[in-house]
This record gives sequence, C-alpha cells and structure tokens, in this order.
Amino acid sequence: MLDGKKVLFSGMQATGSLTLGNYLGALKNWVSIADEYETFYGVVDMHSITIRQDPAELRKRARTLLTLYIAAGLDPEKNCIYYQSHVTGHAELAWILNCFTYMGELNRMTQFKDKAAKHADNINAGLFTYPVLMAADILLYQSDVVPVGIDQMQHLEITRDIAQRFNAIYGEVFTVPEAYIGKVGAKIMSLQDPAKKMSKSDENPNASIYLMDDPDTIMRKFKRAVTDSEACVRYCDEQPGIHNLIDIYCACTGKTPAETEREFDGKGYGDFKTAVGEAVVGVLKPLQDRFEDLSKNKDYLNSVIKNNAEKAQYISNKTLRKVQKKIGFPERIR
Ligand code: TRP
Repeated sequence: MLDGKKVLFSGMQATGSLTLGNYLGALKNWVSIADEYETFYGVVDMHSITIRQDPAELRKRARTLLTLYIAAGLDPEKNCIYYQSHVTGHAELAWILNCFTYMGELNRMTQFKDKAAKHADNINAGLFTYPVLMAADILLYQSDVVPVGIDQMQHLEITRDIAQRFNAIYGEVFTVPEAYIGKVGAKIMSLQDPAKKMSKSDENPNASIYLMDDPDTIMRKFKRAVTDSEACVRYCDEQPGIHNLIDIYCACTGKTPAETEREFDGKGYGDFKTAVGEAVVGVLKPLQDRFEDLSKNKDYLNSVIKNNAEKAQYISNKTLRKVQKKIGFPERIR
C-alpha cells in the first residue's frame, strides 16, 4: 500500500519495436487500470543487456518506449514511468536476492532454456539470473499486483517464492505480489501464422503490426494476413486466422465477436480485412500523433525522466535500507 492505494508494478523491454500485440495485450490495459493503483512502469533496460545490444540502438529504443507509455495514455504525473537503470536499488536488491535463490530453481525456468538455445554463443550469468532482477523490480516497491502475460508467470512465481523465503527468515519485509487478474488484454497472434503469438522479434515484418507503421503499411499487412478456407467471417477455432482478426477488430472497436459476425454476414474476407485495417489505423494514428508531439518536446520528456527516476529512487530506497539492515549490513554513518 502506498498513499492508501495498492501498488502495481510492470515493465517492458526496449528490444525490438512494439507491436499491436504489445499494445492491445498489455499497454492499453495498463492505461485502463492505472487510476486504481499506485503504479510503477519500468523501461527495463537492465534486462535487455542479457542479450547483446547495439548501444545507440538500445538508448533510442528505450526513449521510444518511455515516450510510448505516455502517448498511450499513462499520465507521468500520476504513474511512475522510468528507466530501470536510473534507479540504483534494482541492481543492489538483485544481488541480495541472488543469495536467496537456488541454482535448481533458476535451472527450471523455461524462458532461460529457450533463450539459451537461441543465443548459444552468449549464455551469460545475467541471462540465468534474469528472474532475480525481475523479482527485485517487483519487491523493491512492495508491489501488490503485477500484470504479466502467461509467458512471465513462472517468473512471478519465483518472485513469490523468493519473497516468502526471505520473509520466513527475517519477518515481514516484502509484500508477496499477486498476478494481476481482472480484465486481461487480448492475445494477438501473428498475421502470417495464427498459431504463433505476434512478436516484436518475428523475422517476417508482415507477421506483426508495429505501433509506428503508417496507415498504408497497416492496410497492406492486413490484406496479406493469412486467412482460412471457409470464406465467411465466423468466430471459431477452425478458422484461427479469422479468429485473430476478429479479436483485433473487437479490441479496437469495443464490439463483440457476435456483433462482428452479424456485421459481416454475407461479406467476404476482403471487406472484413479492410475494416480491420481501418479500425487499427483509427487506434494507432492518434497514438502516433501524440508520440510525435511528445518527441518534439525534449525538455518536457527530460523532466519526466528526471522527476520519476527520483521518485522511484526515493521509494525503493525505503525497502532497500530495510533489507540491508535485516541481513546485517553495517549502518550508514550520517
Ligand atoms: N521480463 C518481462 C518481459 O520480458 C519484463 C519485466 C522485467 C517485468 N521486470 C518486470 C514485467 C517486472 C513485470 C514485472 O516481459
């Protein structure tokens, strides 16, 4: 609890360009629940270096992501939007928590196994302890809830285990966080293979709509989207391509699948794809315009970055100092 509100933490990595899937599945939801919580939304750039990054590119993407948080509707006066690397407590708490996490636990993490297989030439220790840094992110702010996708559930579980283990030894130091349950965002699949999630790391650019795609590109990608053979707009598992397009359409228009089926009754895939494309443009264009305006306003963005980093540093220090004291680090002399 902070100022009478429950604390919510979440973060995204600045690797790759954000997709429509990231927006409809996560960011849009963050905005809709923000008022109910005291929120911390990190651009988790420290996680990003577990995979080799181009420095200039990483810096640029981190700023783009932070700007997008605001363009999507998160008011930076009310939501603490910041770069993880600007707040020293993340690394400091992560080190301590490393000493309360077992090799065996980390060995079971499926994301580590996947990433290690994908980056066999760079299986670094940071990639292995990635979940511990994530636990530090969450526990530093005494977070009550964490909205995460299904792929991050295992990391949230280990965070809870670490918190409970620590509390069992030292008393109630950490709030044990819960996964955010409630209105979950839409799960958006690849436009080229509806069995796969839309991903910012997909090699085929036609598989994903990027938040910065211009209207022509968006329309073209929807025209090329993989559909099925029934030639009618019906929401069913036998038509995974159309199922996905209906999900996108509903997330952008607020309509239900049943309403959508009725709207396109007797019409073909072509008409429907055009309508989906237009609905997506209708959502992304205003977001892109706000992004452009914000990007021009460097001083404003810099002040947001500075003020929120200070706020995060101040709040996280409280937890950090308590932890340091509990484990027996010498007191600071003032
Ligand atoms: N690991 C998360 C991802 O890749 C990002 C992340 C880092 C995060 N720290 C977090 C998400 C803390 C929620 C809470 O998606």
